[in-house]
Amino acid sequence: MAINDQPVTFAVLGCGRIGRMHAGVLARDPRSKLVSVFDVNDAAATETAALLGVAKAANVDAVLSDPTISAVLIASPTDTHVDLIIAAARAGKAILCEKPIDLDMARVLACQEAIKPYDVTVMIGFNRRFDPSFRALRERVVKGEIGTLEQVIITSRDPAPPAPHFVKASGGMFRDMTIHDFDMARYLVGDIAEVHAFGGVLFDRMLGEMGDIDSAVISLRAKSGTLVQINNTRRCVYGYDQRLEVFGSGGMLIAGNQRETTVQSSTAGQTGASDPLLYSFIQRYTDAYAAEVGHFVDCLKNGATPLTNFADGVEALRVAEAAIESMKTGQTVRL
Ligand SMILES: NC(=O)c1ccc[n+]([C@@H]2O[C@H](COP(=O)([O-])OP(=O)(O)OC[C@H]3O[C@@H](n4cnc5c(N)ncnc54)[C@H](O)[C@@H]3O)[C@@H](O)[C@H]2O)c1
Repeated sequence: MAINDQPVTFAVLGCGRIGRMHAGVLARDPRSKLVSVFDVNDAAATETAALLGVAKAANVDAVLSDPTISAVLIASPTDTHVDLIIAAARAGKAILCEKPIDLDMARVLACQEAIKPYDVTVMIGFNRRFDPSFRALRERVVKGEIGTLEQVIITSRDPAPPAPHFVKASGGMFRDMTIHDFDMARYLVGDIAEVHAFGGVLFDRMLGEMGDIDSAVISLRAKSGTLVQINNTRRCVYGYDQRLEVFGSGGMLIAGNQRETTVQSSTAGQTGASDPLLYSFIQRYTDAYAAEVGHFVDCLKNGATPLTNFADGVEALRVAEAAIESMKTGQTVRL
């Protein structure tokens, strides 16, 4: 349902790593108005509210019953998303929810059914689709610059593992981290037909003890036949390594890493040395997070379906679950 030309009024639920960042984006966005923030950790909400000069809501109900708020941005831990999505939909709020929707497919599908009767816009935070370079690369593929797309290589290396409390609730590397790459694969090649995954604990015993992995290589075959290779690690000493390479009958396109500046240094001991890579997802995807909110606001204003909608959240999780099964069984999983 389209809404008028006024700024879209938001509340942010969850003021942790990503919620604080989103709240900042909303506070700066001229077409949005951040009304309030809420976090079960009162100190986190107090700090964010004070920093941005907005109200701190007393609880979720206070946000959802506030008629001046038209949209919620859900940035709380993954296991809270489904309940908050359903409550927000019932209250008639538009929803921009962080990935993944949930860790359990049955709960995700039940949520999809539960919100069907409510005419609210739901967008899932697959921010990488909004990265200007990745987006430009995809547009050039679609325009046919490299002919028929045959192979995709996605490199996604985190600089360091997340904190133990986050790992515990994250659902493991494939549902938490690789889900971005599964979504990027779907963005580039469409639906996925087959998945084969290898994962291992190569350097981080803490992750292993928590039942997670620190390294993975995943092969996908798209329904179109295009082959995709994803490589992930939770530790990368030179920063946050985020690259795309697409190869086709007419050539190759690469979207490389980003740095603070483009200055290169050549001295007696080295040639062509560049600045380090941007370190965290918040630095690397600054433009993408802002464009993601911009797209959501566009959708609310013109009634369009978001580029990353609930179904995309379902399908990315489906690929993640197939990857987990493949890693456990050693078999290729067909979707
Ligand atoms: N798109 C991305 O690039 C990206 C990056 C990081 C995290 N995430 C996702 O964002 C979500 C949050 O991750 P994070 O790293 O910010 O976690 P975090 O642990 O840093 O922050 C979560 C915050 O939510 C609060 N919280 C817990 N239950 C709540 C509830 N019921 N209502 C409101 N607030 C609640 C916590 O107190 C905490 O302050 C996760 O789903 C994660 O997968 C996405």
